[in-house]
Amino acid sequence: IRVAVVFGGRSPEHEISCVTAGGVISAIDTEQYDVVPIGIARDGSWVLYSADPGALAIVDGKLPEVDSSGPRLAVPFSGATDLIVLDGAAPRRLGGFDVVLPLLHGPLGEDGTIQGLFEMMDARYAGAGVFASAASMDKVFMKALFTGHGIPTGGYVAVPDRAWRGERKRVLDDIADLGGTVFVKPARGGSSVGISKVADAADSDAVTAAVEQARRHDPKVIVEAAVVGREIECGVLESVDGGAPDVSLPAEIHVADGFDFYDFDAKYLSTSSLTIPAELPEEVVAEIRREAARTFEALGCEGLARVDFFYGDDGRIYVNEINTLPGFTPSSAFPQMWAAAGIEYPALVDRMIQTALR
Ligand code: DAL
Ligand code: MG
Repeated sequence: IRVAVVFGGRSPEHEISCVTAGGVISAIDTEQYDVVPIGIARDGSWVLYSADPGALAIVDGKLPEVDSSGPRLAVPFSGATDLIVLDGAAPRRLGGFDVVLPLLHGPLGEDGTIQGLFEMMDARYAGAGVFASAASMDKVFMKALFTGHGIPTGGYVAVPDRAWRGERKRVLDDIADLGGTVFVKPARGGSSVGISKVADAADSDAVTAAVEQARRHDPKVIVEAAVVGREIECGVLESVDGGAPDVSLPAEIHVADGFDFYDFDAKYLSTSSLTIPAELPEEVVAEIRREAARTFEALGCEGLARVDFFYGDDGRIYVNEINTLPGFTPSSAFPQMWAAAGIEYPALVDRMIQTALR
C-alpha cells in the first residue's frame, strides 16, 4: 500500500506540520506501507522529500521547514493520482498512491482546500472531508454550528472585514458587551498565531490594536469571551466498524510559567505540560467525552479530531474549538491521550491510514 504523506504548506503552521510529519513518517510500518513523503514549500511548490524524516523536528528551539530545492512534483488534479517528478529534462512518472495523509495544519491544508483537490483526483485521504474541514477551520462558522447543535460554547462577536471597515463603532460596542477578558483571533488560524488577549473588552484602543494584529493573518476576525477555568482537550477517532466515534480520556493543559495564555511559544517552545487523564470529577469527564463525540458528529468529521474545552470555574464545560488535523508528534496531546487509552503512536498512525482506506 502506497501512502503519500503531504506536509509543510503555505500556512503559518508550516513548521508544526513538518514536525507532525517527522513523527508520523518515522512511525509508519515500512513492511506494510510504501511511504512517499511530499513537502509543500512555503512558496507552494510540491517537492519530493528524500532526507531523513528525523530531521523534521524542533532542535534547540529551531523549527524545521520544507526545502524547496528538492525534485519538484507536478500535481495531478483530475481523476488520477499519478505523480510526475520534474527533476530533469524529461518528466519521470512516480506512479500513483493508494491513500494520502494530509498532515497539514491551517489554511490551504486543514481548511478543505487540499481536500477538494484530493476529491478531484479521486484520491482517498485521511481525516475530515471538504465541508467539515472548512467549517472547523473557520471559528465563526464553527461557533454557528455549535450553537445550532446545542453544544455549549462561550460568547463571541464575529468581525468580518466589511463590518470592521464600515461599522467599527457597532462592532466595538458589541465586543464591549461581551465584558471581561476577551481573546482576539484570526477566524481561520491555528497554533495561536495572531491571537491576543485583551484584559478589558471595553478598552476600545486595546481591542482595536488586537483586531489589527489578527487582521495581519486573516481579514476575518473573531473576538471570544474568555472563560475563566481550566483548559481540557479530548481526542476523537472515527470508529473502525461504522459505529459511534471513539473518544479518549481528557487531558489537562498546564501552561508554562511566564505565559499569559497558551500561545505559540507556550505550545511548542516551553515547558507547558499535560496531565493525562485530567483529574476531574467523574461526571465532568463523562460530559466532556459526550460533548467531544457530539462535536465531532455535529461538524461531520471523519478520521480524527481533537476537541478543546474549558472547564469553567462556574462548574460548566464549554467547547472552545475542534481541530480536524491536531498536532500529531509523538509528544503532542492527541497521541498522548490515545497512548493513555492503550493505542500507542504507531498503532494510531496505522488506524489513521486504515480508516482513510475504508
Ligand atoms: N493547530 C495545531 C497544530 C493543533 O491544533 O494542534
Ligand atoms: Mg485550532
